[in-house]
Amino acid sequence: MEPVYQTDTLIAEDIDAYLVSHQHKTMLRFITCGSVDDGKSTLIGRLLYDSKMIFEDQLAALESDSKKVGTQGQSIDFALLVDGLAAEREQGITIDVAYRFFNTEKRKFIVADCPGHEQYTRNMVTGASTADLAVILVDARKGVLVQTRRHSYLCHLIGIRNIVLAVNKMDLVDYDQGVFDAIVADYAAFAKSIGIAGFTAMPISGFKGDNITAPSANTPWYSGPTLIEHLESVEVFSAADQSQPLRMPVQWVNRPNLDFRGFSGLIASGTVKPGDAIRVLPSGKTSTVSRIVTMPSGGFAGETDGDGDLDRAVAGQSVTLCLADEIDCSRGDVIAAADNPPQAADQFETTLVWLNDEAMLVGRGYWLKLGTQMVSVTVQQPKYAVNVNTMEKIAAKTLDLNAIGVAEIATDKPLVFEPYADSRALGGFILIDKITNATVAAGMINFSLRRSQNIHWQPTDITRTDHAGLKNQTPRVLWFTGLSGSGKSTIANAVEKQLNLMNRHTFLLDGDNVRHGLNRDLGFTEADRIENIRRVGEVAKLMADAGLIVLTAFISPFRAEREMVRAMLPEGEFVEVFVDTPLEVAEARDVKGLYKKARSGELKNFTGIDSPYEPPVNPEIRVNTVEMTPDEAAQLIVRKLLPLK
Ligand code: ADX
Repeated sequence: MEPVYQTDTLIAEDIDAYLVSHQHKTMLRFITCGSVDDGKSTLIGRLLYDSKMIFEDQLAALESDSKKVGTQGQSIDFALLVDGLAAEREQGITIDVAYRFFNTEKRKFIVADCPGHEQYTRNMVTGASTADLAVILVDARKGVLVQTRRHSYLCHLIGIRNIVLAVNKMDLVDYDQGVFDAIVADYAAFAKSIGIAGFTAMPISGFKGDNITAPSANTPWYSGPTLIEHLESVEVFSAADQSQPLRMPVQWVNRPNLDFRGFSGLIASGTVKPGDAIRVLPSGKTSTVSRIVTMPSGGFAGETDGDGDLDRAVAGQSVTLCLADEIDCSRGDVIAAADNPPQAADQFETTLVWLNDEAMLVGRGYWLKLGTQMVSVTVQQPKYAVNVNTMEKIAAKTLDLNAIGVAEIATDKPLVFEPYADSRALGGFILIDKITNATVAAGMINFSLRRSQNIHWQPTDITRTDHAGLKNQTPRVLWFTGLSGSGKSTIANAVEKQLNLMNRHTFLLDGDNVRHGLNRDLGFTEADRIENIRRVGEVAKLMADAGLIVLTAFISPFRAEREMVRAMLPEGEFVEVFVDTPLEVAEARDVKGLYKKARSGELKNFTGIDSPYEPPVNPEIRVNTVEMTPDEAAQLIVRKLLPLK
């Protein structure tokens, strides 16, 4: 008889009711890896087929892609389903990561199906980052391949502790135990070499269905679990997680009314009971747990239709904790065991996987998101990159798309963390481009750097207000930006002269001059320009702290670094002055003859020619040097600055 696909109709009709009917089942997220011919599509098709679960949207997608499969409730052939999955992949639809859902009596499953080639490393890492288990598929006829090793390495790096080695296509090697044993031995040696503590191997045939849901008569020599049995029973949060100290990153503060205030999140490790002493990080405030409330469907904790209060909750459970005291605690904070809290630090050694087309920029400020914490971060030049096929360490100046490397990072605020090896929840993060908001990297904290724990801010008695007060002025940083030859230095110089006549205490930092001293080690690559501006920004900040009105004349071609300097100063002190001279005009002036050299190819990476300039979007002051003389421009700027006190 032909099997019939049943889409769970509840999901379409009533999503809340669907979630309630499933909320007591545990969930397993897993990833399937293997190269194109290892039979991944067939295996996933087999899992969906055997669990009699396929969702409407998947069905619709398959149907429209291949025109081979029927609509909901119609009988479809297994082979056709697999063809549909394969067709979907060929058309590039699943180039990112395709997530498929199915469930059995015991568990719900989300399987991430990722493409196998090296250029899709980032997709694999994306899929693996939320997975509890990886199924590494090996073709019984081919054994352990380069891809098998790469995928295993990536899964291990990303912290997947449950690995299944599925030796597939056993039907094509006559279910030969010798073939299976040899592959397992080969893989075991490799796994050990990269630190994989253990794995579960099974002989299967996705195509024929051997050892998928039922033990196969073709492999009498195999007495282990079937794939489904294993997926249904494997421990996601182990006893070891529960015996760790309590860690719960706060996802949101639950305050439906004035009588109830709870902190909701997933317990990442440990156990919690009412009466336990806790500490909120990073503030360090302590309290005790008064109640553990479970989440009712779709509502607020504290309303009555949930499961009620718990006596105890453990790693892997999502709960709401109420505290005995009204202490500050908000989204992004971590609730931890009072006597064993995680540390906070601001410098780390990390492993990064670069996910963006644009290479990593050393020194560039990115957002770092760790759980619910978000801070600004800069990345150092990698200590090394890793060849993902051989696991060799190689020298690297940056990380390109799909590259993996180890690099130190510095955050602008302390992060509550734990090494990734101890906690995926508190050790894993992503980096986000501040301007495009794209996720550019996935990262793992290896450890914090001791130097960050041993350097503390030293308070001084004479403050920046005292310094400025004595000079009878408000500090400012007048940040001139514009193309080479736009007139920055000339205008900044004229402004400083006028301010000087007005008895203002000023200092002018000029690109060409600073590059003769403090920054003489820097050239004009993107990384060097970023470092140039970072240093000048720090110097300008120190001078503003000393009470000065600072003028800077640097091309400063990148928005991100100008915004970084702005963020370093008190609100209103950074004044961006855009010296808006069109390229043709600057080039026609060519005061230093550099445009000519750049056009002839003699000078590389020249701004406006073969290196970008990102004009300010919203500068405080814009001067048009085509319509004004430098002195007129200077007057305009001084007028805009008045009153200076
Ligand atoms: S920035 O891009 O890092 O801000 P900065 O203002 O310090 O540049 O230095 C720019 C000056 O260096 C230019 O005015 C020019 O005289 C000189 N220069 C030499 N090579 C280059 C180059 N490739 N691009 C731009 N300016 C250059």
